[in-house]
Amino acid sequence: MVIAIDGPAASGKGTLGRRIAEALGLSHLDTGLLYRAVAARCLADGTLADEAASVAAAHALDLSTLDPEALRGGEMGEAASVVAARPAVRAALFDLQRRFAARPGGAVLDGRDIGTVICPDATVKLFVTATPEVRAERRYRELAARGAGTSFEDVLADIRVRDARDSGRSAAPLMRADDALLLDTTHLTVEGVFSEAMKLIRAKIGKV
Ligand code: CDP
Repeated sequence: MVIAIDGPAASGKGTLGRRIAEALGLSHLDTGLLYRAVAARCLADGTLADEAASVAAAHALDLSTLDPEALRGGEMGEAASVVAARPAVRAALFDLQRRFAARPGGAVLDGRDIGTVICPDATVKLFVTATPEVRAERRYRELAARGAGTSFEDVLADIRVRDARDSGRSAAPLMRADDALLLDTTHLTVEGVFSEAMKLIRAKIGKV
């Protein structure tokens, strides 16, 4: 079984993906971390503007060394969306994601193009959304709790820029797959999102 979760920045895909994977005993991959890791490498090397360097960083990526905590910052999200707009970077990360999805026990992948490009045959596809303001509020709280000194306005501005870049790019733009189930989380708590998602999954596969 493969569950594909897509949605815009800070829509709660990662948290939801983790919860679903735990509940169903599946492996989970937050694919945003891959683009964040490529961006982190480029930021560290001062090569963010160098497409070839970002492609090389994508090829060199090792899943076992990803450090989610270190990759969570706002600066990394912004830089991730820059490298993610490059088709050759996306191509370099394609096989790794496909292999993850093919794990024998089944998998949950979340990102922007999982239901459309990476796993078009996923068992269940969810498209998770919320208003930009609500997403910014959630991300702001998360960053503030980790001691980041960013303002709500900065977080909202970052989310709007990334939404526009992720939806407007020609390489695998953020898009709801025709057969993806829509989950608007604007008025839901984390628990509420999880229970709605599980209802959608059960309705789709008729068990669990
Ligand atoms: O957690 P948040 O939604 O802020 O971001 P993320 O999921 O970690 O993704 C960071 C950036 O990576 C996004 O803005 C996208 O540009 C890019 N990304 C992508 O293009 N395709 C994916 N499957 C996942 C992330």
